[in-house]
Amino acid sequence: MAIQRTLSIIKPDAVAKNVIGKIYSRFETNGLKIVAAQMRQLSQAEAEGFYAVHRERPFFADLVKFMTSGPVMIQVLEGEDAIAKNRQLMGATDPKKAEPGTIRADFAESIDANAVHGSDAPETAAVEIAYFFPTLAIHSR
Ligand code: PPS
Repeated sequence: MAIQRTLSIIKPDAVAKNVIGKIYSRFETNGLKIVAAQMRQLSQAEAEGFYAVHRERPFFADLVKFMTSGPVMIQVLEGEDAIAKNRQLMGATDPKKAEPGTIRADFAESIDANAVHGSDAPETAAVEIAYFFPTLAIHSR
């Protein structure tokens, strides 16, 4: 399996719960390296742009409001099969349906405040990484 990169966001609910380190530990113990990271307060325009693909969905305004409600921790993860591996570690979008032991099962409260985002495919990973990080800010190792 090829080495991939994926974009991960620790959302405002998980940052507020002070579990960044616990979530990073899951990435690291499962073979994902953090090769770029930044803590940011997203503006409304940044959140709308990031989630533009969902702009017609009924929850779009709520999603943007939530993602701008506090700082987020944004990182690029690198490793074998990183996109699928991160999605597996995250668990299902709705924490009530997430497998026990996943990040969302352990740290998320609801489908609106679900602790983490992860790219879902190589094409979206490339677009999402470029949205937040210039190539020179990513340190492959
Ligand atoms: S998709 O396109 O099928 O993958 O969509 P999905 O994963 O279900 O959801 C896309 C993102 O929208 C968030 N979401 C919601 N936010 C607020 N309210 C409701 N009801 C809701 N349903 C889904 C979901 O957390 C996804 O965010 P990201 O950041 O991509 O995980």
